[in-house]
Amino acid sequence: MAPLKVGYPAALPAELAALFPASAEIELIPIPANPQSEIAIDFWIPPPAAALGEKIWPHLRGVKTAQSMMAGTEWLTKLVGPHVTVCNAQGAHSISTAEWTMAAILSMLKYLPLYRDLQQQSEWCSRKQGSAVYAALHQDTRPQFPPIMQEELHGKRVLIVGYGDIGKTIERMLTPFAVEITRIARTARGASAAGPEVHAVAELDALLPHAEIVILILPHTAESHGLIGAKQFALMPQGALLVNAARGPIVQTEALIEALQSGRIRAAVDVTDPEPLPADHPLWKSQNLLITPHVAGSTPQFSPRAIRIAVEQVRRVVAGEPLRFIVQQAQ
Ligand SMILES: NC(=O)c1ccc[n+]([C@@H]2O[C@H](COP(=O)([O-])OP(=O)(O)OC[C@H]3O[C@@H](n4cnc5c(N)ncnc54)[C@H](OP(=O)(O)O)[C@@H]3O)[C@@H](O)[C@H]2O)c1
Repeated sequence: MAPLKVGYPAALPAELAALFPASAEIELIPIPANPQSEIAIDFWIPPPAAALGEKIWPHLRGVKTAQSMMAGTEWLTKLVGPHVTVCNAQGAHSISTAEWTMAAILSMLKYLPLYRDLQQQSEWCSRKQGSAVYAALHQDTRPQFPPIMQEELHGKRVLIVGYGDIGKTIERMLTPFAVEITRIARTARGASAAGPEVHAVAELDALLPHAEIVILILPHTAESHGLIGAKQFALMPQGALLVNAARGPIVQTEALIEALQSGRIRAAVDVTDPEPLPADHPLWKSQNLLITPHVAGSTPQFSPRAIRIAVEQVRRVVAGEPLRFIVQQAQ
């Protein structure tokens, strides 16, 4: 039988390409960033960036499976069309993205962006600044003694929207902080041996008033597009923290700016709409906001994890076993 032709980014470091076993059943084909001619492959591992994948795709022939190195596959599914099976790299980003989420939550509750700003001005202004932020965010006019400098994660009510691999990893990391966790996914399920109770997304509005921290970690789809808008911000408790580690367009940008500027909520976002955020975009200057430029999933451990997933998928194809992590089955 002809070997399975596996195309992978030529830029992949040799030690990662070496994770594929030497086997007569597979033929490894490095795909350059700018192919000059047609390349026939069965199984494609596209580069992580959409712009690179889009340059390569018109030169590929015969692709039956596209195995993303990422958890999100929106651009890839659109690019290859309905006749290719698309799989994501579920789990490859879970630890890194969950750790970013924890760092973002703790940074916001400990006012680290504020203190970093003060550091830039060589200002040792510990007490009053923290208290002023707390009082404004929580609309709490009671005098605090001693003045408040930070807030605690301990005991907070946390709503995780998206309870997949990353949502579950976030929950594991949050658990030692003794928080009260509520979960939302596409479909509801009751508590069982398989896991805790999960609410349906239809219950989002009813659950928001109880959430001091709202974590978005779901895919961007037609259903989740603009899920969080003015109505949802209005439902959140005063001073709630929104953490978007998912995709920018899940939050309505204008509504986010309004909710931040009016002092209703605070937010930490790794993703924005649009991306990249233009230099003159009002989000940059919004108060009580931490922005990182879509970096949450990128750690040195990510690529080896993603390639190991691809290696296992290739083994499955060769062995005639079903693929895992299918996000689109070829029609
Ligand atoms: N910032 C970054 O660098 C970064 C890195 C990695 C991933 N991400 C984002 O994180 C997302 C989640 O990753 P994952 O690996 O955890 O995915 P996953 O394992 O596929 O889980 C996705 C979860 O989202 C839920 N969901 C899907 N559509 C929904 C909707 N309309 N409303 C509510 N919940 C919905 C699913 O519900 P069911 O369980 O009911 O199916 C599932 O629980 C990715 O799609 C990607 O967009 C971001």
